[in-house]
Amino acid sequence: MKIPKTYSVAVTGASGSIYARCLCRVLSKRKDARVHLLMSEAGARVVREELGQNVDIADGRSVMRGLIGSEPPNFRYEALDNIGAGIASGSYVVDAMVVIPCSMGTLGRIAAGTGSNLIERAADVQLKERRNLILVARETPLSLIGIENMARVARAGACVLPAMPGFYHLPKSVDDLVDFVVGKVLLQMGEAQSLFKRRMAREEQAD
Ligand SMILES: Cc1cc2nc3c(=O)[nH]c(=O)nc-3n(C[C@H](O)[C@H](O)[C@H](O)COP(=O)(O)O)c2cc1C
Repeated sequence: MKIPKTYSVAVTGASGSIYARCLCRVLSKRKDARVHLLMSEAGARVVREELGQNVDIADGRSVMRGLIGSEPPNFRYEALDNIGAGIASGSYVVDAMVVIPCSMGTLGRIAAGTGSNLIERAADVQLKERRNLILVARETPLSLIGIENMARVARAGACVLPAMPGFYHLPKSVDDLVDFVVGKVLLQMGEAQSLFKRRMAREEQAD
């Protein structure tokens, strides 16, 4: 039997809420995973604009339904202002936290260690406890400030995993591009993934 894993997934206001949808749908099917779901106000706005779903961060059910399309029993919604939640404490073990997508604003506040909402505090806890923190940053082009913030969180132990799909798996659809990025996230979490093949395109062509 596999030991259950505990994860946090935070959705912030960068473009690409579709990545969060894909990751949450995969994790909703993993019976050995418990997931704390968080969303910033800007994250909800992007979900409304990009996924066309009317989510309200004051209503966790609307967030789960809008983002995932269901209320998975292994998911628990955490209100952004509940800085007393378990995941705000280092004694509550979260195996990996993923901020997906991660805005430059949230990245900068994590780099600064401000901890002004539950997403930033939970990320800070992952760093101070030397636990896995994966930031799926998305912006282009990048300012030097964004680049320096990425370097700063990377030095502190975070994995900066930009929403930057490859093309060597020969994608045919937007879903294929999303699967590539989310597959990379799952690998960083230590989870098995079958969203994309790890072989290089040239090897596939030789088959
Ligand atoms: C539709 C939309 C797309 C956005 N895309 C990005 C983006 O790709 N990267 C980014 O850093 N900010 C993006 N922003 C701006 C952030 O949402 C904004 O900086 C916000 O304050 C971030 O707040 P948060 O970090 O609390 O989620 C976008 C905003 C909107 C409305």
